[in-house]
Amino acid sequence: MDNKDRTRVALVTGGTAGLGLALTRALAADGWHVVTDGRDDRRIKEADFPGGVTAIAGDVTETDHRAALVAAVASEGRLDLLVHNASTLGPLPMRPLAAASIADLQQVWRTNIGAPLVLTGELLPWLSRADGVLLSLSSDAAVQHYETWGLYGASKAALDHVTLTYGAESGVTAYAVDPGDMRTEMHQDAFPGEDISDRPLPETVVPQLLRLLEKRPASGRYRADEFGEGL
Ligand SMILES: NC(=O)c1ccc[n+]([C@@H]2O[C@H](COP(=O)([O-])OP(=O)(O)OC[C@H]3O[C@@H](n4cnc5c(N)ncnc54)[C@H](OP(=O)(O)O)[C@@H]3O)[C@@H](O)[C@H]2O)c1
Repeated sequence: MDNKDRTRVALVTGGTAGLGLALTRALAADGWHVVTDGRDDRRIKEADFPGGVTAIAGDVTETDHRAALVAAVASEGRLDLLVHNASTLGPLPMRPLAAASIADLQQVWRTNIGAPLVLTGELLPWLSRADGVLLSLSSDAAVQHYETWGLYGASKAALDHVTLTYGAESGVTAYAVDPGDMRTEMHQDAFPGEDISDRPLPETVVPQLLRLLEKRPASGRYRADEFGEGL
């Protein structure tokens, strides 16, 4: 069978809620095999994923869990898309940098940059072989400076840098994508008590990500809405 005719395989971290869940469902509906994860086993059961999804409970910061993700990819025999989506805002409520400790920094760094850094290194040969795409979910906070968003924003700036450097070093197509504000648990955590019902649902961002993958522009940092319908 021609390489292009085989089932495409994606690893999407944090696929049990928000954007990761919407993307996992959309890829699976489009015939992809998706390996995904999340720390909360209950959410995995509630997601009721179809047969084309391998969901593994665990934390991306844990070595054994990452090994299980890599093994799941290896058992599929290819990797066309690696999406670093799982993320943390850090300690809540969000606070000014002067109130942040090294432990806070490490917690944010381990999830938002440490895990993607190591996981990409382990999976890069698979991506290269399939002429695949590395896609990291960034944020406008990676390039703008908002009060109380310093730890998270710095981690997303570092994630952009690592993602695009991997692209430069390996030739793999690499994207850091700002999805824009979305009505998710993470967004509500950032704005406790506020009505966020005017923010778009993550399902509206998924077609933009799929269009990015279809158009496949040069590696770089993009906003998802640059790939809106008709653009
Ligand atoms: N929402 C926004 O407005 C917005 C704006 C800009 C950028 N982003 C970025 O877009 C991405 C998706 O955000 P979202 O709002 O959809 O997030 P979300 O609703 O909080 O969902 C995050 C997902 O990741 C999982 N997760 C979190 N930490 C994990 C860990 N350590 N190991 C494994 N899984 C983990 C969560 O499940 P468990 O908690 O069960 O582990 C959940 O499935 C993130 O990278 C975020 O930084 C979001």
